[in-house]
Amino acid sequence: MKTTALAPANIAFIKYWGKKDENLRLPANSSISMNLSEATTVTTIEFSKRFSKDQVQFLGEETSEKEIRRIIDQLDRLRKIAKKDLKAKVVTKNNFPKSSGVASSASGFAALTIAAAAALDLKLSEKELTILARLGSGSACRSVPRGFVLWEEGSSSETSFAKSLYPENYWDLRDILLIVKKPAKKVGTTEGMEGVNTSPFFTSRLLSLPVRIEKILTALKKKDFDLLGQITEEECINMHAVMMTQNPPLFYWNGVTLDIIKEVRNWRDENLPVYFTIDAGPNVHLICEAKNEKEILNKIQTLENIEKVIVNKPAQGAHLITKNLF
Ligand code: PMV
Repeated sequence: MKTTALAPANIAFIKYWGKKDENLRLPANSSISMNLSEATTVTTIEFSKRFSKDQVQFLGEETSEKEIRRIIDQLDRLRKIAKKDLKAKVVTKNNFPKSSGVASSASGFAALTIAAAAALDLKLSEKELTILARLGSGSACRSVPRGFVLWEEGSSSETSFAKSLYPENYWDLRDILLIVKKPAKKVGTTEGMEGVNTSPFFTSRLLSLPVRIEKILTALKKKDFDLLGQITEEECINMHAVMMTQNPPLFYWNGVTLDIIKEVRNWRDENLPVYFTIDAGPNVHLICEAKNEKEILNKIQTLENIEKVIVNKPAQGAHLITKNLF
């Protein structure tokens, strides 16, 4: 009853910000993302009569009580379905440092869900696994299917699931992640999203989303990179406008974030096709086609205050692996 899973983080072209049901983590809108090859979590889990309580260990990282509680809640959901009352030992490792400010909840809850379901011998479909991952952390459902993924908002737990639109080898894109120095202490996404209705722009965001979703689907279908980039940027700015106008306001960007945005726009003026997107932190994801990776990496050398650069390819979804962490 010991299994290990590996799951990628993902970057959303259409973002998830705000829920229509907090407990079920039903999103206010559908979202679309790409799995990231170089930002992954590996989780090993064992259920056994030998354990008198659940143990959770993060290798190389500090963990809060709150995070451990969320993990145990997820184990409880799976134990309930399996009708098994065994305690578990969970060991988990991210290949990107937590201090880098990259959200680990998507890869973390996807890996945990896949590993725990297998360890409990649950025979679940991919759709069911995405629904379970969603209950742990919304964006985690998008890390389960492969490649380019659509999370249908749905209107109930059963209808809010993720599915692959295209496999990882469909389009050779890159997500060049720039980790900026001195990330500000941030407000977590669960807490941050709770204030979404206080933004006067949230309603207009929701009204404008169907058109952007259609455009991203068209861009993916036609492999129209400029359309994908333009809408991804527009969407990122739209989500951050909502965040900044919530009460209390959330400013995830810092000065370095803005410097990068400015430079990306200059590079585009020089005919280099590259676009940015940003999640709940100051780090910037640069989206480009593989053929332009080298030139963009050269340009990045000229930027200041970048701590780390991670070049991601589109990746497969969460899956079991044979190498256990304990
Ligand atoms: O699932 P959470 O709580 O980690 O939410 C993630 C939300 C954003 O990263 C800000 C946007 C997105 O869709 O990935």
